[in-house]
Amino acid sequence: MAHSAPGLPSHDWCSVHSSADSLAPEWLVVPDDANALAPGVWPRSSVRSPDGQILLGGMTASEIAGQYGTPVMVLDEDEVRTRARSFRDAFAAATGRHGTTARVYYAGKAFLSTAIARWVTDEGLNVDVCTRGELEIALAADVDPARIGFHGNNKSRDEIERAVSVGIGTIVVDSAIEIERVAEISERLGAVQRVLVRVNSGVHAETHDFLATAHEDQKFGMPFADAVTAVARIRELASLEFLGLHCHIGSQIFGVAGFRESASRVLELHEQLRAGGEVPLLNLGGGFGIAYTSVDDPTPIEQLAAEIVDAVAEGCAQRGIPMPALAFEPGRAIVGTAGVTLYEVGTTKPVRLGSDESRLYVSVDGGMSDNARPALYGAQYSARIASRTSDVEPALVRVVGKHCESGDIVVDHEYLPGDITPGDLLAVPATGAYCASLSSNYNHVPRPAVVAVSAGASRIIVRGETIDDLLSRDAGISTKEGAR
Ligand code: LLP
Repeated sequence: MAHSAPGLPSHDWCSVHSSADSLAPEWLVVPDDANALAPGVWPRSSVRSPDGQILLGGMTASEIAGQYGTPVMVLDEDEVRTRARSFRDAFAAATGRHGTTARVYYAGKAFLSTAIARWVTDEGLNVDVCTRGELEIALAADVDPARIGFHGNNKSRDEIERAVSVGIGTIVVDSAIEIERVAEISERLGAVQRVLVRVNSGVHAETHDFLATAHEDQKFGMPFADAVTAVARIRELASLEFLGLHCHIGSQIFGVAGFRESASRVLELHEQLRAGGEVPLLNLGGGFGIAYTSVDDPTPIEQLAAEIVDAVAEGCAQRGIPMPALAFEPGRAIVGTAGVTLYEVGTTKPVRLGSDESRLYVSVDGGMSDNARPALYGAQYSARIASRTSDVEPALVRVVGKHCESGDIVVDHEYLPGDITPGDLLAVPATGAYCASLSSNYNHVPRPAVVAVSAGASRIIVRGETIDDLLSRDAGISTKEGAR
């Protein structure tokens, strides 16, 4: 982890830097200071210490790496709590102005552990789960089952049975078949299960295609016409109670236009359903975008909440119907920018692509197994040397992992001080959401620990895997008898 790396080949750094590098995308500008931490991308507690290191929750990068090794995912507890509180307060204020209330569910798929479940519920949020595994983590954290919502387009009987038997607050049903399944299980268990019906509003949010979930040709939700029949059926069934509609238009969405349009379409159906009985709740899902790089500019949560809730209120007023209670399900926006992954640089290599074009490849000790998002969605990230600052001119770099795959990219384009060298710690911010939760053991690489930091202290909240963990699943090794 020391900075100096004697005996390593030195590069012709000038060849990898150009103030107008033709290999850099247009949005990436050469920074005035390649050590600066862009506001909004890093947790609020992240600053440089007097010796130039990045401080996370009051701990230096090398203290954290020294204690837990690298790669390590660092989660700033205060940042998660602050963001959870601001969602709760923003939606409470916005709905309060229209005489109704909001429930905010933390979407556990972004990243769930018992610690996170406790932080967000302490701050007044509920928890949204979409599998038995997520449900068990929430229950293990002693989250009141009534504060849990269950999603998914193919919940198993086992999942439904467990959810109903613990007294889960809501199940969001996604198909006609599932309605019968939940009804039958609830009846058998002597329960009356509260359900929402997930609908597809047809709004195609402006995001990566794989992250857009309410355009017509995909697996989630029901078309409006089918939802009418579905709700009529739910109302016939004594073991189900219909609460309202649910619509989630996608993820990493900037601006409010998509939410407004979707809310206005869903309200039409909401109004229609009121003819057959109460529709007390409307859940508009999650999807609020965050800043991954300094050029991303997400709308402040207070403004988002006010504009979305005002749009619903306007729609209700036009239709002459009362404002329902509202629900929202942010995931990424709660944990995303609270997470920073620390890696150690292993090798650097300038790759020449033409007579005057070259890029510096910086290889780190993790990669697509701890952050699949660049490979899956072409997601852009940023990076900074975490163990020191440097005044050396910035070079255009591509940070890559250690996996046997050329698409194993951690940060596609970044300017870092040109003297970046093996042993440096590299910090990649905004990795709190959908990195640990999408992590894998590709190439038999153990998954890193997740460490919470706060007020100068740290603790493991999810331990890192060991090689023994990996070997223990191989039936030919784990039990000598079993292997024969
Ligand atoms: N509610 C529902 C029904 C969802 O399907 C999702 C995300 C959320 C809420 C939370 O969305 P968020 O606020 O976190 O954007 N793996 C992808 C994201 C997939 C999102 C899946 N559903 C990624 O890494 O970007």
